[in-house]
Amino acid sequence: MLEDMDKLVSLCKRRGFVFPSSEIYGGINGFWDYGPLGVELKRNIKDAWWRDNVRMRDDMVGLDSSIIMNPRVWEASGHVGGFSDPMVDCRGTKERYRADQLFVFAYVFPAVNHKGEPTEAWLAGLGGTAGEAGELPEKKAAKLAKRFGQPAAPPSIIPYMQLDPNDRDKVIGPSTDDRGTLTAPRAFNLMFKTFVGALENESNVAYLRPETAQGIFANFKNVVDTGRVKIPFGIAQIGKSFRNEINPRNFTFRSREFEQMEIEFFCRPEEAKEWYAYWRQERFRWYVELGLQSDRLRLRDHDADELAFYSTATADIEYTFPFGISELEGIADRGDYDLSQHMKYSGKDLSYFDEDRKERFVPHVVEPSAGADRATLAFLCEAYTVDEVGGESRTLLKFHPRIAPIKAAVFPLVKRDGMPERAEAIYRELKRHYNVSYDEKGAIGRRYRRQDEAGTPFCVTIDSQTLTDDTVTIRDRDSCRQWRVAGAGVGAALGDLLEGRAVPEAGP
Ligand code: GAP
Repeated sequence: MLEDMDKLVSLCKRRGFVFPSSEIYGGINGFWDYGPLGVELKRNIKDAWWRDNVRMRDDMVGLDSSIIMNPRVWEASGHVGGFSDPMVDCRGTKERYRADQLFVFAYVFPAVNHKGEPTEAWLAGLGGTAGEAGELPEKKAAKLAKRFGQPAAPPSIIPYMQLDPNDRDKVIGPSTDDRGTLTAPRAFNLMFKTFVGALENESNVAYLRPETAQGIFANFKNVVDTGRVKIPFGIAQIGKSFRNEINPRNFTFRSREFEQMEIEFFCRPEEAKEWYAYWRQERFRWYVELGLQSDRLRLRDHDADELAFYSTATADIEYTFPFGISELEGIADRGDYDLSQHMKYSGKDLSYFDEDRKERFVPHVVEPSAGADRATLAFLCEAYTVDEVGGESRTLLKFHPRIAPIKAAVFPLVKRDGMPERAEAIYRELKRHYNVSYDEKGAIGRRYRRQDEAGTPFCVTIDSQTLTDDTVTIRDRDSCRQWRVAGAGVGAALGDLLEGRAVPEAGP
C-alpha cells in the first residue's frame, strides 16, 4: 500500500505517466499532462467505464456535447449564481486560500516574555477537507514555542469561517510571519470565463463548462425525439470540465482541467429511490471489480445539512488515498430539478410522454458523476507495490489487466541465433490485438523490472528452446511465475490471461 504520495509522483514522472503541464516554462498550477503510459491507462479506464455503462447496457446511450454552451445554460443550472467557494487572500504574500480549508490554532502561553509580547498567539493552517480540523502548522508552532515557551494548553482550533471578525487581526497566515494579513472570506465563482467572437464585452461572455452534466440535460429532448429510448434510460458522457479551483492540490486529485464520466439516468418519479439505490451499489461494485480493494473504499451518505435543496439523497464513493479519505464519485437523486430549471429558462417543454400509460411527466434524475483523473489516481495508488524478488526489492504497479497500459512485453532472451526475428514476429502478431511492447535491451532481469514498474501484467520471452520446439515462456508480473506455451498459441493464451482465465497455479 502506498503511503508516501511523493514516491508515486516521482514514478509517474520518471516512467511517463503524468507530467506537470508546460513544465519547460515552469509549469502551471492545477494542470497536468498524461505521458505515453498515462494516456493509455486513463484511456483504458474511460473505455472500461464506457463499455460497462453504455455498450453493455440496453438502457443507456452516449453523448458528446460541446464544452462551451449558451451561457443561459449556466444561469439555469445555478452555476452563474452559486458555483463558488469561499476564498481568503493574504495581503502580504498574495497567496489565496479556500476559507473552508483554513483553520486557526489559538495558543495561550504561560506568561509574557521579556519583551512584553502577548502570551496569546494565533496561527492559521490549512486543513484536510471542509469541516475537518486542519493540520497543525508544526514549523510555525515550534517557532512560537521558542519565543514564548511551551503553550499552557493545546491550541483551540477554530474554522476560519467561524472566526469572530474582530479576531482576524490576530491571525498569522500560513505563508507569512506577520499578523492580520488575511482578508475576510468572500465568494469566488469557479467557472472559467471567456469571450465568444471578436468583441470582449459582457454580451459575448461564455464559460468553459464546469461539469459535463448540463450538456446532457440540454440535449434530453433531442435524444428522446431522435432515439428509440424509453424511460427508464440514461445518457452518458465523458469529457473535459474546467474549474478555477482556489487550491489545486494532491497531485491530479484537485485540478483545474479534468475529465468527468457522468450519467444522467431518467426515470419515473416513484422509481427514483430504487434507481438511486441501484446506482449507488453498481458504481461501487465497478471500482472493486477493476481492482480497488473494498476495504479502502467507502460509500458515505450525505447528512441532511449537506444535501442540495433539491436532492433527497446523495452518496459519495470515497477512497483512502495516502493524503486522506477523499471523493472519487458522487451519486445523487436530483429529483426533477435540472429538467424543470431548463424548462423555465429555455421555455421549451422537456416533459416526457409515456406511450404505454398515456401519461406526461417531468422525469426524475439519478446522477452517478465520476472523475476520470481521480479514478486514474486511485488505481495508481492502489497498484503501487514494493516487494522482494530473489532478495532484491522491486517496485511494481499491480494494475488489473483491463486497465494496464501495456498488456504484454515481448523479449528475445539474447540478440542472436534468430531469437530477435522470432520475437519480432510474435510481437507484430500480438500488436494487431493488444498494446504490446518489444524490448531487447539489457539483461532479462532488468527488462522484467522495467515492465513491472510500467504495470505490464505479462512478459513473453523467446529463448533457445523456442528455436527447437517453438514454445515461449510467459511470465506473470505479480507472482513472477513462468510457464511455457506454444509460440503459435501465444495470442490465444494471452487473450485468456487478460480475460482473467487460465492463469496456471504453478509454473514449471
Ligand atoms: N454533475 C455533478 C458534479 O459535477 P461534482 O461532485 O462537482 O459533481 C463530480 O464532480 C466528480 O468530478 C467528482 O467526484 C470528481 O471525481 C470529479 N471532480 C470534480 N472536481 C474535480 C477537480 N477539481 N479535479 C479533478 N476531479 C474533479
